[in-house]
Amino acid sequence: MRTLIKSGTVVTATDQYKGDVLVEDERVAVIGTSLDIVADRVIDATAKYVLPGGIDVHTHLDMPFGGTTSADDFESGTRAAAFGGTTSVVDFAIQYRGQTLHHAWETWMKKAEGKAVVDYGFHMIMTDLNDRTEGEMDALVRQGVTSFKLFMAYPGVFMLDDASIFKALLRTAKNGGTICMHAENGGVIDVLVQRALAEGKTAPRYHALTRPARAEAEATHRAIALAEIAGVPIYIVHLSAAEALEMVAEARDRGLPAFAETCPQYLFLSYDNYEEPDFGGAKYVMSPPLREQAAQDRLWRGLAFDDLQAISTDHCPFCMKEQKELGRSDFSKIPNGAPGIETRMSLVYDGGVRAGRISLNRFVELTSTSPARIFGLFPRKGTIAPGSDADIVVFDPNRTITLSASTLHMNVDYNPYEGRQVTGATDTVLSRGRLVIDGGKFVGRPGSGSFLKRASRS
Ligand code: URP
Ligand code: ZN
Ligand code: ZN
Repeated sequence: MRTLIKSGTVVTATDQYKGDVLVEDERVAVIGTSLDIVADRVIDATAKYVLPGGIDVHTHLDMPFGGTTSADDFESGTRAAAFGGTTSVVDFAIQYRGQTLHHAWETWMKKAEGKAVVDYGFHMIMTDLNDRTEGEMDALVRQGVTSFKLFMAYPGVFMLDDASIFKALLRTAKNGGTICMHAENGGVIDVLVQRALAEGKTAPRYHALTRPARAEAEATHRAIALAEIAGVPIYIVHLSAAEALEMVAEARDRGLPAFAETCPQYLFLSYDNYEEPDFGGAKYVMSPPLREQAAQDRLWRGLAFDDLQAISTDHCPFCMKEQKELGRSDFSKIPNGAPGIETRMSLVYDGGVRAGRISLNRFVELTSTSPARIFGLFPRKGTIAPGSDADIVVFDPNRTITLSASTLHMNVDYNPYEGRQVTGATDTVLSRGRLVIDGGKFVGRPGSGSFLKRASRS
């Protein structure tokens, strides 16, 4: 099967040129100008960008959390991802206390099998570290689950103590895995939450007011310090606060391998959203919380100057009806998380590239190439080059869309950006050479996505 993508502007993290791309079966075969090759399918990309498929390394599909389950499963979630120009996701399997890592991995593989429409990998959330599970970490790394998420927050649910975190870091120094850290001081936050509730402060905004930026900065600093002592890289997930970014920047200035991602919600939304009336603030209850608007500029600068290396979504959707509503009279019972898997590329293109905050190459780097490198997918994914997987997005930089729950494809009854207009939209998507989105229409097949066996750090 040959697909010829003609007359587009090919953009990678380093290049931008007019060209044609020939895809043969699952891979990119030839890149050139005016390719005169017979193909089974020709896609006209005139006036469009031809981008490596987006890679979202932080999603929570079909995840039990906060007494309910995230609203997108692997079918609806990866379908929405494809609509938005994302062709690989790395989701999180969860090891609950007393369970093996292998059991968790098998459970999440079953959730994805027969459903995913684009390729998927897994990080492993570890909640129970002991001699046996430490040994299992090595096996998982060999099997392509090469990263582990640990929590410094959510005491009694996910949180690990510093000794366990340190042991896990030491283990990855040997086995080539990577620790991803949810960096918020869970103990401090818990005290603030209990105090707020005792004072009758139950509205959604208290979710943010009980999770101060300094609690994120402290944990970020501690996580980096523990990794420094262990002599391993560390990756901070969903960084939201300027104060936390200072910790990453300081570490990187000292030459430490500290990496971090932020998410569109922290670039485009702010604490003010929690003040929306009628329990509207619940839409934005996520951890870490949205910050003051001033943090946005600092995050954009971090993205431009490489103190932040990736933009993921932390897609973890819960409907307002029956899910967010669980916390109507107690903000601490609102399931944490928000939808974003479909809107990332357009939001970042519009607010980043068009607004002059990051270059077009940096946009590709942050949404695809750099996450591929950090998480062992490059050069199979994250670029357009002969031999790489034909995960390709034909992106129209001039098409304006209005973001709305009524037209987007995520399985959730609201959108945090409802009514926002963005310019820059996904037209056509190939996933390993298969057409998944054709001129804005879904033509993919559930189950055609494959498990991504990722490489470890060498
Ligand atoms: O609020 C969030 N972020 N929900 C998803 C779980 C997590 O901590 O990433
Ligand atoms: Zn987290
Ligand atoms: Zn998350």
